[in-house]
Amino acid sequence: MTASDPSDQVRVFDTTLRDGEQSPGCSMTPAQKRVFARALAELGVDVIETGFAASSLADMEACRAIAQDLRETTLCSLARCSDGDIDAAARALEHAARPRIHVFISTSPLHREHKLQLSREQVLERAVRGVERARGLVDDVEFSAEDALRTEEDFLVEIFSAAIAAGAGTINVPDTVGVATPGEMRGLFERLRARVAGAERVVFSAHCHNDLGLAVANSLAAIEGGARQVEVAVNGIGERAGNCALEELAMALRTRAAWYGVGTGIRTGRLLATSRLLTRLTGMGVQRNKAIVGANAFAHEAGIHQHGMLRHRGTYEIMRPEDVGWPATRMVLGRHSGRAAVADRLRALGYVLEDDALNDVFARFKALCETQRLVEDADLQRLVEGEDAAG
Ligand code: KIV
Ligand code: ZN
Repeated sequence: MTASDPSDQVRVFDTTLRDGEQSPGCSMTPAQKRVFARALAELGVDVIETGFAASSLADMEACRAIAQDLRETTLCSLARCSDGDIDAAARALEHAARPRIHVFISTSPLHREHKLQLSREQVLERAVRGVERARGLVDDVEFSAEDALRTEEDFLVEIFSAAIAAGAGTINVPDTVGVATPGEMRGLFERLRARVAGAERVVFSAHCHNDLGLAVANSLAAIEGGARQVEVAVNGIGERAGNCALEELAMALRTRAAWYGVGTGIRTGRLLATSRLLTRLTGMGVQRNKAIVGANAFAHEAGIHQHGMLRHRGTYEIMRPEDVGWPATRMVLGRHSGRAAVADRLRALGYVLEDDALNDVFARFKALCETQRLVEDADLQRLVEGEDAAG
């Protein structure tokens, strides 16, 4: 199956510095944001959301500093549909070579009633005024309907049609609370593209949160439904359970290119370095089993897997570690490892042992694993030299 839209590129809109940075434990100084924005540009993202200029002086400063540095990448600042926010976004981007203002307003009944205390008609009117004001300041305007996945579909069609008529070039459909499922997401994008007036003139975008662990799956489903921009964050950071993880989305599209028929401009060989830079800047690491960038993502311990991998890497790896920035596959030696992996590691360390000697070392390796979770090269060397590891 391939996605139905003929365009073969999906724009990567990175919101690590806005939606990601505003989440607990992830805040960065303007200087740190500047460093990370450069890394995002090198990674090849198409749009960087540099902040929410009206929300703090630090955000304003960061947006302005990044605009001095990056001339090739579209830079974006978030704004509510209020004159003050939109003007602040424009000020933050005044030196940007490719500025985008991202205006948003909540559209769901729950948010209209309890957060905004506005009627449908008032929300619609504010959205149109916001897009028009932003278009008076920059050419590139994105409009988001916050909490879109819990909004009446007819109202989404109405407000998106109005936003396009007012000059929005990107229509973003956020699953703000991460409640959607993939089938629902794909269907919604297909129907919006068919029903929204002026849909053919704009790019549809997905912005998925990860409350049910479905942000990447939902973003991929949106692409199947015709979305051609995805909003992502490095390491999946973001409010609560986070945003769609950039590295996972990019590698899913690359690894399953024949299925999706669309790609991104991401230089995937830089994924690990970018993930690690973010960890260094924020102090927030990723779990060992995190896809693509976790320490175990290309590590094998089970004997059957190691044996298979030694014969053909394709047996248990669908991607090459080098393609995302790891130096190589890692064979971890521990209780689950087999003789073949131990022999292979010994060979790499320069020991070519006859069968009997290998059996002997392997027996002592197994004994060592009773007391130690992982066996390192130095332990193996001691086993071969005839001492036990503890000695
Ligand atoms: O999750 C959300 O709805 C957002 C919007 C501001 C795009 O982050
Ligand atoms: Zn969000």
